[in-house]
Amino acid sequence: MTDEILVYASILGGDLANLSSEIKRVEEAGADAIHLDVMDGHFVPNLTFGPPVIKALSKYTSLPMHAHLMVTNPWDYIKTLAQIGIQEVTFHIETTPHPIRLLREIRETGLRGGIAISPATPENSIVYLENEIDILLVMSVEPGFAGQSFIENTYEKLKRIKEIVKNWKKRPLIMVDGGVSDRNAKKLVELGVRGLVCASYLFKAKNMKEAVDKLKNI
Ligand code: DX5
Ligand code: ZN
Repeated sequence: MTDEILVYASILGGDLANLSSEIKRVEEAGADAIHLDVMDGHFVPNLTFGPPVIKALSKYTSLPMHAHLMVTNPWDYIKTLAQIGIQEVTFHIETTPHPIRLLREIRETGLRGGIAISPATPENSIVYLENEIDILLVMSVEPGFAGQSFIENTYEKLKRIKEIVKNWKKRPLIMVDGGVSDRNAKKLVELGVRGLVCASYLFKAKNMKEAVDKLKNI
């Protein structure tokens, strides 16, 4: 596992009428990857964009793209996502009783795959996923909207996750998503997090490049 801190810019926090220029802005600011929040209006009470928009956006960046699926039926999306130039997919473990089957399906397409866990989902759900996940996306807000405040007991959850994965041969990239900023990033990194997903912190910053640098050098 890399020790570098990776900043994932969630474009949900940007100007949704100008996503292609927002992606360029994020790239110029030095973010490491683009985080794309796919919502279906069913698993979460909000609706964003899906594969056609992601495919169109992929032409505007050379940064890796991560699709965070907040959808009731992630199975329907994998084949299409694998064909449109993204690199990573996470789905919510709450959506399927067969996560290992879906993870294998994702990774067989060549994508890096992982699960997302909502704030009230116990971390125990990852105990049997050694060798099955490249990424663990820990939600620190209820999924569905940018701009919510960070749920403090995420720290406790991360401590337990650290214990679970410490003896795994290949550790997953642990990401935190929701209310992440320069105010909590240091504590998150100390708990083993290497992927910081941010919307509001980056898009509300006066200077996005400085905001990215701050996180990368926390
Ligand atoms: C929430 C999304 C997040 C969101 C983060 O459901 O998964 O990626 O855009 O937004 P901030 O950083 O504003 O909490
Ligand atoms: Zn997200």
